[in-house]
Amino acid sequence: MSRASQTGRGRPTPEHAPGHVPVMLSEVIEVLAPREGAIYVDGTLGAGGYSRALLDAAECTVWAIDRDPEAIARAKVLAERYAGRLSLVEGCFGDMDRLFEARAVRPGRGVGGGVGGGVDGVAFDLGVSSLQLDRPERGFSFQRDGPLDMRMSGPEGAQGPSAADTVNHLPEGELADIIWRYGEERQSRRIAKAIVAARRVKPITRTGELAEIVRRVVRRGQTGRDPATRTFQAIRIHVNDEIGELRRGLGAAERLLAPGGSLAVVSFHSLEDREVKTFLKERSGTRAGTTRHLPEAPRSSPDPTFEPAAGPARKPTAEECAANPRARSARLRAARRTDAPAWNSTSKELSP
Ligand SMILES: C[S@@+](CC[C@H](N)C(=O)[O-])C[C@H]1O[C@@H](n2cnc3c(N)ncnc32)[C@H](O)[C@@H]1O
Repeated sequence: MSRASQTGRGRPTPEHAPGHVPVMLSEVIEVLAPREGAIYVDGTLGAGGYSRALLDAAECTVWAIDRDPEAIARAKVLAERYAGRLSLVEGCFGDMDRLFEARAVRPGRGVGGGVGGGVDGVAFDLGVSSLQLDRPERGFSFQRDGPLDMRMSGPEGAQGPSAADTVNHLPEGELADIIWRYGEERQSRRIAKAIVAARRVKPITRTGELAEIVRRVVRRGQTGRDPATRTFQAIRIHVNDEIGELRRGLGAAERLLAPGGSLAVVSFHSLEDREVKTFLKERSGTRAGTTRHLPEAPRSSPDPTFEPAAGPARKPTAEECAANPRARSARLRAARRTDAPAWNSTSKELSP
């Protein structure tokens, strides 16, 4: 189950902002191997767990992005603590090269940035933070009633339609597809039908209402998981275009990373992990259909841009899962950037 699972992933610790514990932190830091003078992008700042660990590990610089204005505001105290080493950028990581460019100072070496020099590491810790999930007013929670919003950018930022707009206005078939695709929910059609019947009576505006509609249709399984879990995950992924963002973010990381730079992606459900796996397979030339046993075969792909870490995705340790149940579904994929040019030429190149 994804991080949308609302079983208490974050526990307050004195080290981190209340309510969020970074997942697979030591593994991510091991991948990025922070060193003096290096430049890292934390694509998902959240409560700042990864950024802080990078900045504490070496005299390096971090560019931290979050689409949630509250995360950026909360991190100002960190930016002061690590003055000159931590830059906060509000926006989506899928746009990160454009965001950096818009600031004229791009992460990179030398005056004016120069991504031609590239960055040394990019980390994505996908999904929502406990700080977002556990606050009913953000509208992600099926356990605590709140306005049905689910936009990571918050109601103020208003990037696109909210969860309420989605459930109240999309045609039944489209709703069923979303719940099926992003929630992997077998009862998607029945749920969509129940949503449409409920909204005919009155618009669905609260998380509690949506959760009850789903619970009336789907019975609690043997796992004891709330029947609304998958539907909430699906609507959240749709509202925030999380899969599209991930695709764009991976492409942007490919463009930004310097040769030898590291990519670390922590995902929380199979849809995300599949995207990362497929991207890395493609970009490393290991996708099915390519073979090193046919060296004379005509080459249809550009040179590999990533060398993925050997073996399957890494999982959190049993100790971490016991201490932080929200880590249970985490998977870490890592790769090293080669010196081949980025494949995606649709976005403006950032070399100086
Ligand atoms: C799981 S939390 C990150 C937690 C962080 N690693 C820490 O240790 O505190 C994910 C954060 O990424 C942000 N986020 C998710 N998708 C994003 C995107 N496409 N662009 C920018 N921020 C995003 C969310 O708003 C949330 O604050």
